[in-house]
Amino acid sequence: MSTSTPTNDPTGLPAFPGKRDARCPFDPPQEYTDWREAEGLQRAVSHGEPLWVVSRYADVRAALSDPRLSSDDRRPGYPASSGKPGDLPQSFQRMDDPEHARLRMMLTGELTIKRVERMRPDVQKMADDFLDQMIAKGQPADLVRDYALPIPSLVISLLLGVPYSDHEFFQQHSNTLTDANTTEQGKRVASGALFGYLLELVGRKEREPGDDLISRLIGERVATGELTREDVAMDGLMLLIAGHETTANMTALSTLALLVHPDQAARIRDTDDPAVVANAIEELLRYLTVPQDHVWRVATEDLTLGGQLIRAGEGVTVNLPAGNRDPAFLDRPDALDVDRNSRGHVAFGYGTHQCLGQSLARMELQVALPTLLRRLPGLRLAVPLEELRLRHDMAVYGVRELPVAW
Ligand code: HEM
Repeated sequence: MSTSTPTNDPTGLPAFPGKRDARCPFDPPQEYTDWREAEGLQRAVSHGEPLWVVSRYADVRAALSDPRLSSDDRRPGYPASSGKPGDLPQSFQRMDDPEHARLRMMLTGELTIKRVERMRPDVQKMADDFLDQMIAKGQPADLVRDYALPIPSLVISLLLGVPYSDHEFFQQHSNTLTDANTTEQGKRVASGALFGYLLELVGRKEREPGDDLISRLIGERVATGELTREDVAMDGLMLLIAGHETTANMTALSTLALLVHPDQAARIRDTDDPAVVANAIEELLRYLTVPQDHVWRVATEDLTLGGQLIRAGEGVTVNLPAGNRDPAFLDRPDALDVDRNSRGHVAFGYGTHQCLGQSLARMELQVALPTLLRRLPGLRLAVPLEELRLRHDMAVYGVRELPVAW
């Protein structure tokens, strides 16, 4: 029997994403288990429209490597609105190959492991500085606002070459953009302001180039006519949007999961082996899979996936949290075990659109979590677990606030 969250939809279809049990904030909604076990794919309502939900691990990977499932949100039937102001250029995240591959390739060199490792000392300093400020303000503190949100936004401004004098403007608008409490209209205003700022920054970097992503794109791609100035500003905005909310929610929700599983926290806090930390982060990425309503596609032709016929023009959502908890992927999927091998997880997606910033995200988490646990060994929740406000219906799952004491 299905335990799906009912909707007011006249079709009686269940809602996607489903609602989690407040007592187990880390577990995907119970109905996802039924959906994985049922034949074919699940039909559900998401953003007011019916679509197919892909929940089995093997089907998730098949969907994400199928060129007949398009990422182009301008196509009719695409499941969700991008929410960006209509006059902004299209980002390659919402394009298909070969155009997507051509534009993505221009950024891959900027986000390699080698490049990202060069930023590690700066990220370490950011983590330490934000903790100093949080400690100085006194307890309790909101770890989301004081630590988890500001680190990724400062990291992106470092990557793009946003001058220090503009950090406050950049931080303020990027926090507004990714804050769970901001309205859609507020988000449009913030993304418009950031795009305008980035376009102006492109102009400044043309005159005075620095050692940063925007300056290199201008020198290597705008100069050759491969990219316009607007494309470069859009790349910056896309990196900010894609890399901020995801990393921030992973930091905060991982902290919560580690507070609830102190033995697992101790493994990260007490080791001086970076490989143990790196492995633990992979397992946290799998176990928490924060991109819960984030990966959408539309069929460009009729196709069969997971035993289900999908018609051309029908929308599909790829249920990454369900895929990463599939017992066909790994044993004891509902346990958090930071020592296990969770390689092959799909928290960063799969296939041609697989997360471009994954090395950066890993490095940020490898710095942020051990630093926090080691500097504040007495860290604890300042409110009962049941009182936390969870991001049930947001694209990226997590906690709205995380009040902590130490
Ligand atoms: C824990 C943090 C992160 C998670 C869980 C995450 C997850 C994802 C997922 C699931 C996708 C695939 C979307 C799809 O197939 O439609 C994606 C794409 C992407 N991510 Fe991340 N991401 C994270 C951090 C970052 C960071 C730090 C950056 C860059 C600064 C970034 C940049 C991107 C970009 C540019 C894409 C689009 C790639 C493409 O379409 O080719 N992400 N991410």
